[in-house]
Amino acid sequence: MAYENILTEKRGKVGLITLNRPKALNALSSALMAEVATALDAFEKDERIGCVVLTGSEKAFAAGADIKEMQPLDFARAYLTDFITPWDRVARNRKPVIAAVAGYALGGGCELAMMCDFIIAADNARFGQPEITLGVVPGAGGTQRLTRFVGKSKAMEMCLTGRMMDAEEAERAGLVSRIVPLDDLMEEVMKVAEKIADFSLPVTMMVKESVNRAYETTLAEGIRFERRMFHASFATDDQSEGMGAFVEKRSPQFRNK
Ligand code: HXC
Repeated sequence: MAYENILTEKRGKVGLITLNRPKALNALSSALMAEVATALDAFEKDERIGCVVLTGSEKAFAAGADIKEMQPLDFARAYLTDFITPWDRVARNRKPVIAAVAGYALGGGCELAMMCDFIIAADNARFGQPEITLGVVPGAGGTQRLTRFVGKSKAMEMCLTGRMMDAEEAERAGLVSRIVPLDDLMEEVMKVAEKIADFSLPVTMMVKESVNRAYETTLAEGIRFERRMFHASFATDDQSEGMGAFVEKRSPQFRNK
């Protein structure tokens, strides 16, 4: 598949998607996001892929939705075309997705990173929801996901002022799982992705589904869901392999069954 706005690559069991509109700091046009959705579909179908990494450039993960595309929009057009809703595809991905963020992750860029399962940031990363400065509200989950990540006070301040957070603040606030030096970002993220991809795919998918439940249900329901997933994991060959390997003091060879 030939893409115009992204690059894709398979590295062993890891699918890599690189946003590639350098002249626009990876502004997220509808065309770019459609390509991301197609690439995710392909990795989702490919049974050899166990984890996906989404990244941008050293200067920008993504500087937001494409302002030049949005500028002529009116309400009717936005509503009729269900503008932005196709982006939800990223959050619906069933296999784990890691965001490797360097440089700007602003507006839709920050929202896109937050749709991934976790964010590993380079030390030059900057996160923000500057939509307020453009006369609009965040539209891809900024007010909702950022609040869940960093709490009401910081999310409210970020969304009301458009202030950017640097990587240190983002890590302290719980938005990113960890920070690595810019030069090491991709190497470190690939190590993490490979580690995940080496585990049993049905089980990593169950883990993802279970953690995501924590955002969408009561504690009692979430615990019940987790317990059922835990019971279900005993129906996999990989459970026998994982526990058998421990008892036999050898490395497990998971077969995604
Ligand atoms: C379209 C963009 C863009 C964007 C940058 N560019 N961000 N084009 N949409 N979001 C373009 C610029 O127009 C410019 O193109 C080129 O990228 C380089 O940008 P500069 O501004 O010259 O770079 P710099 O001075 O380094 O400043 C970097 C920056 C700034 C601070 C990130 O570009 C910026 O403030 N960008 C907008 C950030 C923003 O407001 N994002 C939220 C968008 S709204 P030319 O052709 O002039 O060289 C949003 C809504 C989400 O995301 C709701 C639903 C998803």
